[in-house]
Amino acid sequence: MGATSSFDDPGVAAAYAKWRARDLSWLLGYPFLFRALEPGSDGGARGPMLDVGCGHGEVAVEVARRFASPVVAVDASPAMLEVARREHAHPSVTYHQAEGRRLDFLDTASMAAAYSAFVLLMQPSRAAIQALADEVGRVLRPGARFAVLDIDHSRSTILARRPAAEGEQITVQVGDTEIHDYYWLPGTYTEILERAGFADVAVEWLTWEGIADPVLFSWRDRAPGPVTCSLVVLSGTRR
Ligand SMILES: C[S@@+](CC[C@H](N)C(=O)[O-])C[C@H]1O[C@@H](n2cnc3c(N)ncnc32)[C@H](O)[C@@H]1O
Repeated sequence: MGATSSFDDPGVAAAYAKWRARDLSWLLGYPFLFRALEPGSDGGARGPMLDVGCGHGEVAVEVARRFASPVVAVDASPAMLEVARREHAHPSVTYHQAEGRRLDFLDTASMAAAYSAFVLLMQPSRAAIQALADEVGRVLRPGARFAVLDIDHSRSTILARRPAAEGEQITVQVGDTEIHDYYWLPGTYTEILERAGFADVAVEWLTWEGIADPVLFSWRDRAPGPVTCSLVVLSGTRR
């Protein structure tokens, strides 16, 4: 199955790497992904970590630094990998071209953890998400964690129109270019991860609680409670 996407275009790859709106993800986004990957009370199984859809490599470098682990960073787009190799080379990060949704170059049960940021939402069908999740499940050791940072577009404030059904293509402005995502809901990701052999799959809707002063949000006419956003972190443990 091919995995062509907007990111195959070198212009889109360059625009994404420079997109300043992504800066916010380093505040409310990636830190929650990293937290979901922290070793458990057993000390965790440390070893090589897999980045599925590493893009321009910025996150892979931070994971290698933060967890002092080798990172196997995989992407379907040669254009994104070119930016990654040029701008985010790191001695503990190796960049690889994905063949469709397969990771044939990796042995079964060879990875200690895996993560994926803003990649599931790019898959055009349930079967494509399942194929990717199955392959991540194959290469992870039993007990290893898989964490996913994604967007729950049903809570999104940036869509002009909410899609009528899951799987519908949506267009997102990235700088002065556009990328295409698909409308999937966290419940669908959960089902797919469970079918791929992950247990205890949890969904965390990220909130500004603990980050922003709640008083600064109090002008809003809203029910009391944490101020949510559309970002979610899903995580599960390989059975
Ligand atoms: C929105 S970018 C996110 C990049 C990076 N994870 C980040 O957080 O900055 C999505 C990336 O996923 C890659 N991608 C999409 N489908 C993929 C697949 N099936 N296998 C590997 N990479 C994929 C795209 O080429 C693109 O680089």
